[in-house]
Amino acid sequence: MGKYHIKIGIIGGTGLDDPNILENRKETPVTTPFGSPSDVLLEGKIDGIDCVLLARHGRKHTISPSNVNYRANIWALKEAGCTHVLASTACGSLQEEIKPGDLVLIRSFIDRTTARIQTFYDGTQNALPGVCHIPVEPAYCPSTTEVVAESAKSLKLKIHPVVTCVTIEGPRFSSLAESKLYRLWGADIVNMTSVPEVVLAKEAGLCYAAIGLVTDYDCWRDTGNKVCVDEVMRNFKSNVQRLIALLKYIIPVIANEDWDKVIDSAKVSRMDPLANTL
Ligand code: ADE
Repeated sequence: MGKYHIKIGIIGGTGLDDPNILENRKETPVTTPFGSPSDVLLEGKIDGIDCVLLARHGRKHTISPSNVNYRANIWALKEAGCTHVLASTACGSLQEEIKPGDLVLIRSFIDRTTARIQTFYDGTQNALPGVCHIPVEPAYCPSTTEVVAESAKSLKLKIHPVVTCVTIEGPRFSSLAESKLYRLWGADIVNMTSVPEVVLAKEAGLCYAAIGLVTDYDCWRDTGNKVCVDEVMRNFKSNVQRLIALLKYIIPVIANEDWDKVIDSAKVSRMDPLANTL
């Protein structure tokens, strides 16, 4: 269609690391200038379209949010030829109307991480000189995010189309006071992985969208459960099939559009020539 060969990376969050969604899959171990990604790249096709699946926490879920090598993950997907990345993430709700089991589309973030490198331009790579001050409004690719919103509508899946996410360092959950503070800040959901993944994807010029699956109400409500890991895992598992159905629907929709302008302008929005080095 356009001049770019469309290839879609899927970053599976907690509970979404089912390789069976890929046809003709092969495992590709890779390394990057920033170290190893969380696991092998699982390359294959969905509906005839090239896709690459990467388990953010490793396929055995052994890597904590602080220890995920976000730079290696994004670099590996870019180097594998991905034009797009669809990221899934488990998240807690900070708003009554966003219920466990709902899907959300993340549009912006509040960064409460403390121990993560957010740039490829850290002075360690000769090929990446200088400083990269990328804008993060918009943080997520609006065109890709729109495809997700429209696809959810077509599938009659309930999705909250514009949410703000607080990303905390973890691995602990938030305190009551923190949870209430994030609500005052106007945040809608809380997770542990959106930052710096989205920032690095933007530096890399990837069309990146993130779909959240709400697993809990965090701990701010007076009644009901306070978040715990069992609840997160249980609720993710019991709702993940809708997320997989949505991903499968989106992929051919993306592949049938012309992304030339979007991909070209993603390159222009960066200050340094990462495009020439990958
Ligand atoms: N992931 C899922 N639920 C969460 C919560 N309440 N806080 C942070 N990360 C989460």
